[in-house]
Parts: sequence; C-alpha cells; structure tokens
Amino acid sequence: MAHRNRRAFPRGSFPPCLIHRVDGIFRPEAAGPGRFSKASRRACPNREKVAAREMASRRRLTGEICLADEFILETHGLTKEFAGFFAVRDVALKVRRGSIHALIGPNGAGKTTCFNLLTKFLKPSAGQILYKGQDITAMAPADVARLGLVRSFQISAVFPHLTALENVRVALQRQHGSSFDFWRSKSVLDRFNGRAMELLSDVGLSEFANTPAVEMPYGRKRALEIATTLALDPEMMLLDEPMAGMGHEDIDKIAALIKRISAKHTILMVEHNLSVVANLSDIITVLTRGQVLAQGNYAELSKDERVKEAYLGAGHA
Ligand SMILES: Nc1ncnc2c1ncn2[C@@H]1O[C@H](COP(=O)(O)OP(=O)(O)OP(=O)(O)O)[C@@H](O)[C@H]1O
Ligand SMILES: [Mg+2]
Repeated sequence: MAHRNRRAFPRGSFPPCLIHRVDGIFRPEAAGPGRFSKASRRACPNREKVAAREMASRRRLTGEICLADEFILETHGLTKEFAGFFAVRDVALKVRRGSIHALIGPNGAGKTTCFNLLTKFLKPSAGQILYKGQDITAMAPADVARLGLVRSFQISAVFPHLTALENVRVALQRQHGSSFDFWRSKSVLDRFNGRAMELLSDVGLSEFANTPAVEMPYGRKRALEIATTLALDPEMMLLDEPMAGMGHEDIDKIAALIKRISAKHTILMVEHNLSVVANLSDIITVLTRGQVLAQGNYAELSKDERVKEAYLGAGHA
C-alpha cells in the first residue's frame, strides 16, 4: 500500500492541505476546517495567501507534493436541496490547475446552482468544497475571492458611466485595499493608470480606454468585465455563460480572450454554446438533473450515448 506522510506544522501556519509523498494517496476525509480564526483573518486578510506560499516553499524543499497542486478546486458530495428538490446532488468535481474546464448540461441541470455553491452565493445542503486544499465550504464570498477564486461579474461591477480605464482603475484600487473611495485624489487614482492600461491591452480594449462603458458594444463590455475581474488578480476564474447573448464575431473574440487568459489562470465555465465548449475546453463535466452524468474531453463525450440522450431528451440539437 502506498505510504502516506503527513507532517506536523505549527498551528495556524498553513491552510489544511493534505501533504503526501509522490506515491501517496489522497484522503479527502482527512481534510479539516480552516485553522485561522475569524479574528486573525480580519486582522490580516492576506494571511492565508502568505501561509499558502510558505507551505508551497516548504513542499519544494522537502520534495513533497500535495493534491491541491494538481487540482486547484475539488468538491465532494456537493448537494443543494430546495424544499425536497435536489438541484445539485452529490457532485464530485475536480478542476485541474491551469485547465479550461467546462460545465455543461441541458436546461435545469443544476449548472448555475453549482456555480453559486462554488462562489458561495448559495450554502450547500451537504458536501465539501476545497480550493487549493483548503476547505472553503463555510467561507464568505469575499474571503473566497480574496484567496483568488473569483467569479466574473461577482465583485467587479462595471459602472456604465465610467470609462473603460476608470472601471479597471476602480477594480485595481479595491484590490489594493481601498473600497469605493471615490473621494480619493486624482493623483492617487492615477497611480493605477499603468496597470489599468496593461489590463485593457490584455483584453484588446486599448482603444476603448476613454470610452464610457455604456457606449461600448456588447462584446467589448464583456471583455471589460473580464478585465475588471483580472484586476482582482484571481488564480482561478469562474465564467457563467461568457458568450450569452453574443453574435458570431464577439464569440470568436471572447473565446480567443479566454484562451489567452487561461495561460495564467485556471478557468471553470458554464457555457451553452457547444462549439465554444469544443474549441476551448480541456475537460468537460456533463450535469443532468443535478448529478454528474459524464466527464471527458469533447471527442469522448460526443460519442457517449448517455450524453446524447440527455441533450436530445431535453430538446437540444
Ligand atoms: N432558488 C431555487 N428554489 C427552487 N428551485 C430552484 C432554485 N434555483 C434553482 N432551482 C431549480 O434547480 C434546478 C437547476 O437550476 P439551475 O438554474 O441550476 O439549472 P441550469 O443548469 O443553470 O439551467 P439553465 O441551463 O437553464 O441555466 C432547476 O430545476 C431550477 O428550477
Ligand atoms: Mg443556468
């Protein structure tokens, strides 16, 4: 049997992540609750990030690996019940670090509910969510976002009457510890101009820097929303139907943008457009009636009779 080597670390020095040898086995049931008290998190909101970095460097030194290195997000038995109806039931999801992972399924399959559970908009009825090995099941949405798991459009609202540059600057300002301090001096805000322009350039919006968001074409507005999400420096981004309501030209642009972003960020997206899913995704999880029906790449799933049946049965082409 494979040998498992858990080490004792000083209390509060690292998030509860399972450490084991290369030949070790993962035991999700051993994951415990977060070790930081609410008071210590309030005192130093970035403490988790610092602790995670310390742990990573300790692992490099000892040659140990952690399953959280391979899978950035995992759920075990994730369940959401609404008055006896199971919108999500016993979902086990593993999102590989650096991948584009798509969550698909017919209408009412539980995709959005699953998303809302992952981003803490909904409280699970049962189950566990681990992000980078840390149990985030009971965490507040803002704390999860601070750890680097950010849903696009979650915190990063786009203000219609601010320009693209101003929108990204406000997001950067929030990321650097200030909330909506609109009364701040122009010189303080100007500090963020360089990074804001970089982010606009990353999403192909340099020429829209001085355009108010309300005047931007729909597809460009979605790109701006992604730029304001990137300003929060996420490690993992959750995109809920990023192509919704778009024409062909915008779809191609946003698909190319998601591909570019995925070089530095793990992406989990819910998307109805199956050709986008086919082109972008490394791995796809199919949900039906709140449960995982199948998982694989597009080529594998398109041959899967159960998947075809689920879509055809729900009236999809
Ligand atoms: N707050 C709620 N109360 C009761 N039932 C709900 C609630 N939210 C969702 N549901 C039900 O849970 C099921 C899954 O809904 P969900 O919105 O997660 O599906 P979806 O896969 O996102 O569907 P779509 O493709 O149409 O967006 C549906 O039957 C829905 O009616
Ligand atoms: Mg939905």
